[in-house]
Amino acid sequence: TVYTMVDRETCIACGACSENAPNLFDHDEEGLSFSLLDQNAGNTEIHEDFIEELEIAEEECPTNSIKTATEPFTISVV
Ligand code: F3S
Repeated sequence: TVYTMVDRETCIACGACSENAPNLFDHDEEGLSFSLLDQNAGNTEIHEDFIEELEIAEEECPTNSIKTATEPFTISVV
């Protein structure tokens, strides 16, 4: 079980995550990323079909702003 959210304090709006994981991440009007599935709450379980793209997005984020956990996140930073 995996959950994800973007640390929007450290995201530099590079855009890589939505390229690597278009099903999981999108950007607001400032270009900052957020988790699409739950408006960056990080409490929606990632479907197994999307795990691979999540892993790529996590690896490729230059600021390590893609956070993942096996428990739901409880603090949202949208
Ligand atoms: Fe931000 Fe990292 Fe995506 S810097 S735009 S979360 S790849």
